[in-house]
Amino acid sequence: MKKYNFNAGPSVLPDVVLEAAAKAIIDFNGTGLSLLSISHRTPEFEEVLNDAQNLFRELLNIPDNYKIYFVGGGASTQFFHIPANFLGKKAGYINTGVWTKKAIKEAKFYGEVEVVASSEDKNFSYIPKGFDIPADLDYLYFCANNTIYGTEYKQDIDSPVPVIADMSSNILSRPIDVSKYAVIYGGAQKNLAPAGVSFVIVRDDMLEKVARPLPTMMNVNTHVENNSMFNTPPVFPIYVLRETLKWMKAEGGLQVIYERNQKKAKMLYDEIDRNSLFRGTTAVEDRSAMNICFVMSEGNEALAAEFMEFAKARGMVGIKGHRLVGGFRASCYNACPVEAVEALVACMQEFEQMHK
Ligand SMILES: Cc1ncc(COP(=O)(O)O)c(C=O)c1O
Repeated sequence: MKKYNFNAGPSVLPDVVLEAAAKAIIDFNGTGLSLLSISHRTPEFEEVLNDAQNLFRELLNIPDNYKIYFVGGGASTQFFHIPANFLGKKAGYINTGVWTKKAIKEAKFYGEVEVVASSEDKNFSYIPKGFDIPADLDYLYFCANNTIYGTEYKQDIDSPVPVIADMSSNILSRPIDVSKYAVIYGGAQKNLAPAGVSFVIVRDDMLEKVARPLPTMMNVNTHVENNSMFNTPPVFPIYVLRETLKWMKAEGGLQVIYERNQKKAKMLYDEIDRNSLFRGTTAVEDRSAMNICFVMSEGNEALAAEFMEFAKARGMVGIKGHRLVGGFRASCYNACPVEAVEALVACMQEFEQMHK
């Protein structure tokens, strides 16, 4: 049976990328060696790394005064790397769910945290708007896409202080104005690669703002100065990331991917709104194009387990909602094909027919 992969992360990657990765594991670039057993300090791997950086820059339109590096440890490591480097006295955090709460907890090890806005009052089902950003913050931190709740910022934030964003689950899914950010980072295991590597995009002026003496691996300058090679980088995930970026470029670039993502999200949200058995869980204007959350509509809650089985029998994988929201979550990352969303919509329609 054909499987439709809606996993929240690690998640679907393009077939051509998986094929290239499988080949490279056996024979990397015709070297007769596996990608998994070459030194990272070879011209071949250096080319992969440089390609990955250049493609990232090209696809996301990253200006010249920014550096990009790749590092292990996951996005959760950045939760403390960011404040260790940039929190001198006080930072502002927008609290939009689990991932910002975790980031706030880590930031408090380094200084004062002011939660400048929060959507906790409604179980993080919306993006806070219309709040003031104090001018005395070292930086303002937010999470651009809330993977668990399915809310997403549709606009870059205008801020009088440097903006730092976690884009783990929507990087390269929509065009952004990079120049509005001081730092953009994320785990790559949703839109770009398997687990094991994070990307960090940092504006040059921030490199001079490191707030305290730090262990070498924690200092942002270490990774910039050594071009992601201070220690052994995650060779395999970086290779896959490079292949994914090549795929994106071949598909037509970020605008094409963005339009496809919008199309998929509209199809699924339209069905959630139309289908009498389901309802969405977030404010309509803040709906994520990446993580689409829905539950059974009022009075139909008892059908949840049956729908899960029904969908599973039709090849849907990974649509169980996070326990904090319940119901269902279809993660429709860049590599999720339109057909997968069509199949899920058809499944929801068939289920509704059965229960008429
Ligand atoms: C938005 C967001 N930030 C951070 C994380 C944590 O990432 P990692 O598991 O790479 O530490 C996740 C994981 O799903 C996430 O979705």
